[in-house]
Amino acid sequence: MSIDFGDDFFFGTATSSFQIEGRSPIIPQGESIWDSFCALPGRVSDRSNGLIACNHVERYAEDVALMKKLNMGVYRFSVAWPKVIPNGRGVVSPAGLDFYDRLVDELLAADIVPFPTLYHWDLPQALDDDGGWMMRETAEAFADYTTAVVERLGDRISTWMTFNEPYVSAALGYVTGEHAPGHRSLDAGLAVAHHLLVAHGMGMERIRAAAPNAEAGIVLNFTPAKPATKAPADVAAADIRNAWENEWYIGPIMGKGYPERAVEALGWNRVIDVRDGDMELIAAPIDVLGVNYYSRSVVSAVGQTQPLSHQRTEMGWEVHPESMRALLVWIHENYAPPKIVITENGAAMPDTQVAGGRINDTDRIDYLRRHLHAVHAAKEAGVPMAGYLAWSLMDNFEWAHGYTKKFGLVEIEERTLNRKPKASALWFAEVARTGVVPDA
Ligand code: FCB
Repeated sequence: MSIDFGDDFFFGTATSSFQIEGRSPIIPQGESIWDSFCALPGRVSDRSNGLIACNHVERYAEDVALMKKLNMGVYRFSVAWPKVIPNGRGVVSPAGLDFYDRLVDELLAADIVPFPTLYHWDLPQALDDDGGWMMRETAEAFADYTTAVVERLGDRISTWMTFNEPYVSAALGYVTGEHAPGHRSLDAGLAVAHHLLVAHGMGMERIRAAAPNAEAGIVLNFTPAKPATKAPADVAAADIRNAWENEWYIGPIMGKGYPERAVEALGWNRVIDVRDGDMELIAAPIDVLGVNYYSRSVVSAVGQTQPLSHQRTEMGWEVHPESMRALLVWIHENYAPPKIVITENGAAMPDTQVAGGRINDTDRIDYLRRHLHAVHAAKEAGVPMAGYLAWSLMDNFEWAHGYTKKFGLVEIEERTLNRKPKASALWFAEVARTGVVPDA
Protein backbone atom coordinates (compact mmCIF):
# COMPACT_ATOMS: atom_id res chain seq x y z
CA MET A 1 0.00 0.00 0.00
CA SER A 2 1.25 3.49 -0.71
CA ILE A 3 1.00 6.06 2.08
CA ASP A 4 0.31 9.77 2.08
CA PHE A 5 1.93 12.16 4.58
CA GLY A 6 -0.46 14.98 3.79
CA ASP A 7 0.34 18.67 3.64
CA ASP A 8 1.55 19.34 7.17
CA PHE A 9 4.71 17.24 6.90
CA PHE A 10 8.06 18.27 5.40
CA PHE A 11 10.86 16.46 3.62
CA GLY A 12 14.49 17.39 3.28
CA THR A 13 18.06 16.27 3.74
CA ALA A 14 20.75 16.71 6.38
CA THR A 15 24.51 17.29 6.40
CA SER A 16 27.08 18.63 8.86
CA SER A 17 29.83 21.22 8.57
CA PHE A 18 32.97 19.11 8.97
CA GLN A 19 31.62 16.35 6.76
CA ILE A 20 30.99 18.52 3.68
CA GLU A 21 32.34 22.06 3.90
CA GLY A 22 36.10 22.00 3.52
CA ARG A 23 38.03 25.23 3.85
CA SER A 24 38.25 28.39 1.83
CA PRO A 25 41.14 30.88 1.79
CA ILE A 26 38.63 33.70 2.26
CA ILE A 27 37.29 32.24 5.50
CA PRO A 28 40.07 32.00 8.08
CA GLN A 29 39.18 29.29 10.54
CA GLY A 30 40.58 27.62 13.60
CA GLU A 31 41.53 23.95 13.84
CA SER A 32 38.89 21.63 15.20
CA ILE A 33 39.32 18.43 17.19
CA TRP A 34 38.50 16.54 13.98
CA ASP A 35 41.39 18.20 12.12
CA SER A 36 43.72 17.04 14.89
CA PHE A 37 42.18 13.57 15.02
CA CYS A 38 42.55 13.08 11.26
CA ALA A 39 46.25 13.85 11.60
CA LEU A 40 46.79 11.02 14.11
CA PRO A 41 47.97 7.75 12.57
CA GLY A 42 45.43 4.95 12.37
CA ARG A 43 42.36 6.88 13.52
CA VAL A 44 40.62 7.50 10.17
CA SER A 45 40.50 4.39 8.04
CA ASP A 46 41.44 5.94 4.69
CA ARG A 47 43.79 8.53 6.26
CA SER A 48 41.64 11.30 4.83
CA ASN A 49 40.65 14.62 6.37
CA GLY A 50 38.14 17.44 6.05
CA LEU A 51 40.32 20.02 4.32
CA ILE A 52 38.40 19.81 1.05
CA ALA A 53 35.56 17.36 1.82
CA CYS A 54 32.77 18.16 -0.70
CA ASN A 55 34.05 21.73 -1.07
CA HIS A 56 30.58 22.88 -0.06
CA VAL A 57 32.09 26.10 1.26
CA GLU A 58 32.71 27.12 -2.37
CA ARG A 59 29.92 25.16 -4.05
CA TYR A 60 27.06 25.90 -1.65
CA ALA A 61 25.00 27.77 -4.27
CA GLU A 62 25.17 24.79 -6.60
CA ASP A 63 24.16 22.52 -3.72
CA VAL A 64 21.17 24.69 -2.89
CA ALA A 65 20.12 24.70 -6.55
CA LEU A 66 20.37 20.92 -6.56
CA MET A 67 18.18 20.65 -3.46
CA LYS A 68 15.63 22.85 -5.14
CA LYS A 69 15.64 20.63 -8.21
CA LEU A 70 15.03 17.68 -5.90
CA ASN A 71 11.97 19.40 -4.32
CA MET A 72 13.55 19.54 -0.86
CA GLY A 73 11.57 21.71 1.55
CA VAL A 74 14.05 21.84 4.44
CA TYR A 75 17.84 21.67 4.76
CA ARG A 76 19.50 20.67 8.01
CA PHE A 77 23.12 21.82 8.19
CA SER A 78 25.45 22.61 11.04
CA VAL A 79 27.44 25.72 11.81
CA ALA A 80 31.18 25.21 12.27
CA TRP A 81 32.22 26.80 15.54
CA PRO A 82 35.87 27.09 14.33
CA LYS A 83 34.70 29.17 11.37
CA VAL A 84 32.70 31.53 13.60
CA ILE A 85 35.04 31.80 16.60
CA PRO A 86 38.39 30.36 15.47
CA ASN A 87 39.80 30.17 19.02
CA GLY A 88 36.60 28.80 20.53
CA ARG A 89 36.09 31.83 22.74
CA GLY A 90 36.69 35.51 22.17
CA VAL A 91 36.96 37.16 18.78
CA VAL A 92 34.13 36.41 16.35
CA SER A 93 35.14 36.07 12.70
CA PRO A 94 32.90 38.11 10.38
CA ALA A 95 33.97 36.00 7.38
CA GLY A 96 32.68 32.85 9.09
CA LEU A 97 29.31 34.36 9.90
CA ASP A 98 29.13 35.82 6.39
CA PHE A 99 29.33 32.33 4.93
CA TYR A 100 26.29 31.11 6.87
CA ASP A 101 24.53 34.36 6.08
CA ARG A 102 24.98 33.70 2.35
CA LEU A 103 23.93 30.07 2.73
CA VAL A 104 20.75 31.00 4.59
CA ASP A 105 19.83 33.67 2.03
CA GLU A 106 20.46 31.26 -0.83
CA LEU A 107 18.19 28.68 0.82
CA LEU A 108 15.41 31.16 1.48
CA ALA A 109 15.58 32.43 -2.10
CA ALA A 110 15.09 28.81 -3.22
CA ASP A 111 12.13 28.35 -0.83
CA ILE A 112 14.05 25.89 1.32
CA VAL A 113 13.74 26.26 5.09
CA PRO A 114 17.17 26.48 6.78
CA PHE A 115 17.32 24.14 9.81
CA PRO A 116 20.66 24.75 11.57
CA THR A 117 22.35 22.73 14.28
CA LEU A 118 24.85 24.68 16.36
CA TYR A 119 27.19 21.83 17.27
CA HIS A 120 27.88 18.77 15.16
CA TRP A 121 31.15 17.59 16.75
CA ASP A 122 33.74 20.05 15.38
CA LEU A 123 34.87 21.58 18.68
CA PRO A 124 37.57 24.25 18.28
CA GLN A 125 40.93 22.66 19.09
CA ALA A 126 41.84 25.65 21.27
CA LEU A 127 39.06 24.63 23.68
CA ASP A 128 40.20 21.02 23.66
CA ASP A 129 43.70 22.21 24.57
CA ASP A 130 42.09 23.41 27.83
CA GLY A 131 40.27 20.09 28.41
CA GLY A 132 37.37 20.46 25.95
CA TRP A 133 34.06 19.03 27.08
CA MET A 134 35.68 17.60 30.21
CA MET A 135 35.62 21.18 31.47
CA ARG A 136 32.43 22.91 32.47
CA GLU A 137 33.82 26.20 31.09
CA THR A 138 33.35 24.83 27.59
CA ALA A 139 29.59 25.05 28.14
CA GLU A 140 29.96 28.78 28.79
CA ALA A 141 32.01 29.17 25.63
CA PHE A 142 29.24 27.35 23.74
CA ALA A 143 26.66 29.76 25.14
CA ASP A 144 28.64 32.77 23.87
CA TYR A 145 29.11 31.13 20.47
CA THR A 146 25.35 30.49 20.36
CA THR A 147 24.62 34.16 20.96
CA ALA A 148 27.02 35.19 18.18
CA VAL A 149 25.32 32.91 15.64
CA VAL A 150 21.72 33.49 16.69
CA GLU A 151 22.11 37.27 16.78
CA ARG A 152 23.42 37.22 13.23
CA LEU A 153 21.04 34.69 11.59
CA GLY A 154 18.09 34.76 13.97
CA ASP A 155 15.90 37.03 11.85
CA ARG A 156 15.71 34.28 9.19
CA ILE A 157 15.72 31.03 11.19
CA SER A 158 12.52 29.40 12.42
CA THR A 159 14.05 26.41 14.25
CA TRP A 160 17.36 26.09 16.08
CA MET A 161 18.94 22.85 17.22
CA THR A 162 21.63 23.05 19.91
CA PHE A 163 23.52 19.74 19.71
CA ASN A 164 23.76 16.76 17.42
CA GLU A 165 23.88 13.42 19.25
CA PRO A 166 25.52 14.30 22.57
CA TYR A 167 25.60 10.55 23.28
CA VAL A 168 28.01 10.01 20.41
CA SER A 169 30.19 12.97 21.43
CA ALA A 170 30.55 11.62 24.95
CA ALA A 171 30.64 7.87 24.29
CA LEU A 172 32.72 7.68 21.10
CA GLY A 173 34.80 10.80 21.73
CA TYR A 174 35.67 10.17 25.37
CA VAL A 175 34.87 6.56 26.34
CA THR A 176 35.73 4.32 23.36
CA GLY A 177 38.06 6.78 21.62
CA GLU A 178 36.70 6.01 18.14
CA HIS A 179 35.94 9.68 17.52
CA ALA A 180 37.75 12.93 18.25
CA PRO A 181 39.24 13.79 20.66
CA GLY A 182 39.90 10.08 21.17
CA HIS A 183 39.94 9.66 24.95
CA ARG A 184 39.27 6.29 26.56
CA SER A 185 37.80 6.89 29.98
CA LEU A 186 34.34 6.20 31.37
CA ASP A 187 34.82 8.92 33.97
CA ALA A 188 35.63 11.44 31.25
CA GLY A 189 32.57 10.36 29.27
CA LEU A 190 30.28 10.80 32.25
CA ALA A 191 31.59 14.28 32.98
CA VAL A 192 31.34 15.22 29.31
CA ALA A 193 27.75 13.97 29.09
CA HIS A 194 26.74 16.30 31.89
CA HIS A 195 28.64 19.27 30.47
CA LEU A 196 27.01 18.76 27.08
CA LEU A 197 23.60 18.79 28.71
CA VAL A 198 24.45 21.93 30.68
CA ALA A 199 25.68 23.51 27.45
CA HIS A 200 22.40 22.58 25.79
CA GLY A 201 20.50 24.29 28.61
CA MET A 202 22.67 27.42 28.41
CA GLY A 203 22.32 27.44 24.62
CA MET A 204 18.53 27.23 24.92
CA GLU A 205 18.57 30.30 27.20
CA ARG A 206 20.65 32.22 24.69
CA ILE A 207 18.41 31.22 21.77
CA ARG A 208 15.30 32.28 23.70
CA ALA A 209 16.94 35.63 24.50
CA ALA A 210 18.18 36.41 20.98
CA ALA A 211 15.33 34.84 18.96
CA PRO A 212 12.22 34.76 21.15
CA ASN A 213 9.96 33.77 18.25
CA ALA A 214 12.01 30.84 16.99
CA GLU A 215 11.48 27.22 17.97
CA ALA A 216 14.39 25.38 19.54
CA GLY A 217 15.41 21.89 20.55
CA ILE A 218 18.10 19.24 20.30
CA VAL A 219 18.94 16.28 18.08
CA LEU A 220 19.34 12.94 19.88
CA ASN A 221 20.26 9.54 18.45
CA PHE A 222 18.53 6.35 19.52
CA THR A 223 19.56 2.73 18.98
CA PRO A 224 16.95 0.64 20.80
CA ALA A 225 18.58 -2.37 22.48
CA LYS A 226 16.85 -5.72 22.54
CA PRO A 227 18.08 -8.63 24.68
CA ALA A 228 19.49 -11.53 22.60
CA THR A 229 17.64 -14.08 24.76
CA LYS A 230 15.22 -14.08 27.68
CA ALA A 231 18.06 -14.98 30.07
CA PRO A 232 18.06 -12.50 32.96
CA ALA A 233 21.69 -11.56 32.32
CA ASP A 234 20.90 -10.60 28.71
CA VAL A 235 17.77 -8.71 29.74
CA ALA A 236 19.81 -6.77 32.32
CA ALA A 237 22.55 -6.01 29.78
CA ALA A 238 20.04 -4.65 27.27
CA ASP A 239 18.37 -2.62 30.00
CA ILE A 240 21.61 -0.91 30.99
CA ARG A 241 22.44 -0.32 27.35
CA ASN A 242 19.06 1.36 26.84
CA ALA A 243 19.60 3.55 29.87
CA TRP A 244 23.08 4.69 28.82
CA GLU A 245 22.43 5.01 25.11
CA ASN A 246 18.75 5.94 24.81
CA GLU A 247 17.61 7.53 28.08
CA TRP A 248 20.67 9.40 29.39
CA TYR A 249 19.92 12.57 27.41
CA ILE A 250 16.19 12.59 26.77
CA GLY A 251 15.54 11.87 30.47
CA PRO A 252 17.16 15.05 31.86
CA ILE A 253 15.97 17.18 28.92
CA MET A 254 12.36 16.12 29.42
CA GLY A 255 12.57 16.65 33.19
CA LYS A 256 12.89 13.01 34.25
CA GLY A 257 16.52 13.17 35.31
CA TYR A 258 19.23 10.60 34.65
CA PRO A 259 18.03 6.97 34.54
CA GLU A 260 18.64 5.88 38.08
CA ARG A 261 19.34 2.21 37.49
CA ALA A 262 22.27 3.11 35.21
CA VAL A 263 23.47 5.86 37.47
CA GLU A 264 23.96 3.18 40.09
CA ALA A 265 25.47 0.63 37.72
CA LEU A 266 27.99 3.09 36.35
CA GLY A 267 28.76 4.73 39.68
CA TRP A 268 28.39 8.10 37.99
CA ASN A 269 28.01 10.08 41.20
CA ARG A 270 31.75 9.55 41.80
CA VAL A 271 32.55 11.88 38.97
CA ILE A 272 29.68 14.06 37.89
CA ASP A 273 29.54 17.51 39.27
CA VAL A 274 25.80 18.32 39.25
CA ARG A 275 25.44 21.84 40.60
CA ASP A 276 22.37 23.50 42.03
CA GLY A 277 20.02 24.46 39.25
CA ASP A 278 21.66 22.25 36.60
CA MET A 279 18.78 19.81 36.25
CA GLU A 280 16.26 22.67 35.94
CA LEU A 281 18.42 24.41 33.35
CA ILE A 282 18.71 21.20 31.30
CA ALA A 283 14.96 20.56 31.54
CA ALA A 284 13.86 23.94 30.16
CA PRO A 285 11.09 23.15 27.67
CA ILE A 286 12.03 22.37 24.09
CA ASP A 287 9.67 22.95 21.16
CA VAL A 288 10.90 20.13 18.99
CA LEU A 289 12.94 16.95 19.39
CA GLY A 290 15.18 15.81 16.55
CA VAL A 291 15.44 12.02 16.34
CA ASN A 292 18.27 10.29 14.50
CA TYR A 293 17.55 6.63 13.86
CA TYR A 294 19.58 4.13 11.85
CA SER A 295 19.33 0.73 13.53
CA ARG A 296 18.68 -1.26 16.68
CA SER A 297 21.10 -3.42 18.65
CA VAL A 298 20.70 -6.93 19.97
CA VAL A 299 22.58 -7.25 23.23
CA SER A 300 23.78 -10.20 25.28
CA ALA A 301 25.61 -10.24 28.60
CA VAL A 302 28.79 -11.34 26.83
CA GLY A 303 28.70 -8.59 24.23
CA GLN A 304 26.72 -7.56 21.23
CA THR A 305 25.37 -10.10 18.78
CA GLN A 306 23.19 -9.52 15.79
CA PRO A 307 20.91 -11.97 14.05
CA LEU A 308 22.58 -12.90 10.77
CA SER A 309 19.29 -13.40 9.00
CA HIS A 310 18.60 -9.69 8.82
CA GLN A 311 19.82 -7.40 6.11
CA ARG A 312 22.68 -5.06 7.02
CA THR A 313 24.07 -1.87 5.53
CA GLU A 314 27.73 -1.22 4.69
CA MET A 315 28.15 0.00 8.28
CA GLY A 316 27.19 -3.47 9.47
CA TRP A 317 23.99 -1.97 10.90
CA GLU A 318 20.90 -4.13 10.83
CA VAL A 319 18.00 -2.83 8.74
CA HIS A 320 15.08 -2.83 11.17
CA PRO A 321 12.34 -0.30 10.42
CA GLU A 322 9.92 -1.80 12.93
CA SER A 323 12.25 -0.61 15.73
CA MET A 324 11.91 2.92 14.40
CA ARG A 325 8.14 2.86 14.67
CA ALA A 326 8.31 1.37 18.17
CA LEU A 327 10.94 3.93 19.20
CA LEU A 328 8.81 6.89 18.12
CA VAL A 329 5.80 5.55 19.99
CA TRP A 330 7.98 4.93 23.07
CA ILE A 331 9.36 8.49 22.98
CA HIS A 332 5.86 9.90 22.65
CA GLU A 333 4.40 7.78 25.45
CA ASN A 334 7.25 8.26 27.90
CA TYR A 335 8.44 11.81 27.26
CA ALA A 336 5.84 13.52 25.05
CA PRO A 337 7.96 16.16 23.29
CA PRO A 338 5.59 18.64 21.61
CA LYS A 339 6.86 17.76 18.15
CA ILE A 340 9.28 15.26 16.60
CA VAL A 341 11.33 15.62 13.44
CA ILE A 342 13.38 12.77 12.00
CA THR A 343 16.64 14.71 11.69
CA GLU A 344 18.64 11.76 10.29
CA ASN A 345 17.81 8.41 8.74
CA GLY A 346 19.57 6.72 5.89
CA ALA A 347 21.96 3.99 4.84
CA ALA A 348 25.50 3.43 3.63
CA MET A 349 25.26 1.13 0.63
CA PRO A 350 27.85 -0.32 -1.78
CA ASP A 351 26.62 1.85 -4.69
CA THR A 352 28.16 -0.47 -7.26
CA GLN A 353 25.19 -0.81 -9.63
CA VAL A 354 25.23 1.77 -12.37
CA ALA A 355 22.60 2.26 -15.06
CA GLY A 356 22.84 4.99 -17.70
CA GLY A 357 25.72 6.63 -15.82
CA ARG A 358 23.64 6.87 -12.65
CA ILE A 359 24.13 4.90 -9.42
CA ASN A 360 21.10 2.65 -9.28
CA ASP A 361 20.83 2.30 -5.49
CA THR A 362 17.62 0.31 -5.23
CA ASP A 363 18.81 -0.97 -1.81
CA ARG A 364 18.92 2.59 -0.43
CA ILE A 365 15.50 3.33 -1.92
CA ASP A 366 14.18 0.22 -0.19
CA TYR A 367 15.70 1.34 3.14
CA LEU A 368 14.19 4.83 2.85
CA ARG A 369 10.81 3.50 1.74
CA ARG A 370 10.54 1.05 4.64
CA HIS A 371 11.62 3.63 7.21
CA LEU A 372 9.22 6.23 5.84
CA HIS A 373 6.48 3.66 6.25
CA ALA A 374 7.58 3.26 9.90
CA VAL A 375 7.43 7.03 10.43
CA HIS A 376 3.99 7.14 8.86
CA ALA A 377 2.78 4.32 11.09
CA ALA A 378 3.97 6.27 14.15
CA LYS A 379 2.22 9.39 12.88
CA GLU A 380 -0.99 7.40 12.40
CA ALA A 381 -0.62 6.11 15.97
CA GLY A 382 -0.74 9.70 17.24
CA VAL A 383 2.95 10.60 17.50
CA PRO A 384 3.35 14.31 16.56
CA MET A 385 5.66 13.76 13.56
CA ALA A 386 6.47 16.97 11.71
CA GLY A 387 9.07 16.03 9.12
CA TYR A 388 11.70 13.69 7.78
CA LEU A 389 15.27 14.61 6.83
CA ALA A 390 17.31 11.98 5.02
CA TRP A 391 20.95 11.47 5.86
CA SER A 392 22.52 12.62 3.69
CA LEU A 393 22.22 15.06 0.83
CA MET A 394 25.52 13.79 -0.57
CA ASP A 395 28.34 11.35 0.04
CA ASN A 396 30.71 12.87 2.58
CA PHE A 397 33.35 12.42 5.29
CA GLU A 398 31.97 9.64 7.46
CA TRP A 399 34.14 10.32 10.54
CA ALA A 400 36.45 7.42 11.43
CA HIS A 401 35.53 5.74 8.12
CA GLY A 402 36.71 8.69 6.05
CA TYR A 403 35.15 8.71 2.60
CA THR A 404 34.74 4.92 2.45
CA LYS A 405 31.10 4.81 3.63
CA LYS A 406 28.60 6.46 1.34
CA PHE A 407 25.29 7.71 2.72
CA GLY A 408 24.47 10.25 0.01
CA LEU A 409 21.43 10.56 -2.19
CA VAL A 410 23.84 12.40 -4.44
CA GLU A 411 27.17 10.97 -5.52
CA ILE A 412 30.30 13.09 -5.28
CA GLU A 413 32.55 12.18 -8.15
CA GLU A 414 36.15 11.57 -7.16
CA ARG A 415 38.62 14.28 -8.17
CA THR A 416 36.09 16.62 -9.87
CA LEU A 417 33.73 16.58 -6.87
CA ASN A 418 30.90 16.90 -9.36
CA ARG A 419 27.44 16.19 -7.92
CA LYS A 420 25.46 13.36 -9.54
CA PRO A 421 22.03 12.44 -8.17
CA LYS A 422 21.64 8.71 -7.56
CA ALA A 423 18.39 6.89 -8.33
CA SER A 424 17.45 7.36 -4.65
CA ALA A 425 17.64 11.16 -5.04
CA LEU A 426 15.13 11.07 -7.88
CA TRP A 427 12.90 8.68 -5.96
CA PHE A 428 13.02 10.88 -2.84
CA ALA A 429 12.35 14.00 -4.93
CA GLU A 430 9.06 12.44 -6.02
CA VAL A 431 8.18 11.62 -2.41
CA ALA A 432 8.89 15.24 -1.43
CA ARG A 433 6.83 16.60 -4.32
CA THR A 434 3.75 14.45 -3.67
CA GLY A 435 3.97 13.53 0.02
CA VAL A 436 3.24 10.00 -1.11
CA VAL A 437 5.52 7.04 -0.47
CA PRO A 438 4.84 4.23 -2.91
CA ASP A 439 4.91 0.62 -1.86
CA ALA A 440 7.81 -1.49 -3.18
C1 FCB B 1 25.25 10.07 12.78
C2 FCB B 1 25.92 11.41 12.62
C3 FCB B 1 26.09 11.85 11.19
C4 FCB B 1 26.46 10.68 10.28
C5 FCB B 1 25.54 9.51 10.49
C6 FCB B 1 25.82 8.33 9.60
O1 FCB B 1 25.62 9.53 14.00
O2 FCB B 1 25.18 12.41 13.28
O3 FCB B 1 27.04 12.88 11.15
O4 FCB B 1 27.79 10.36 10.47
O5 FCB B 1 25.60 9.11 11.83
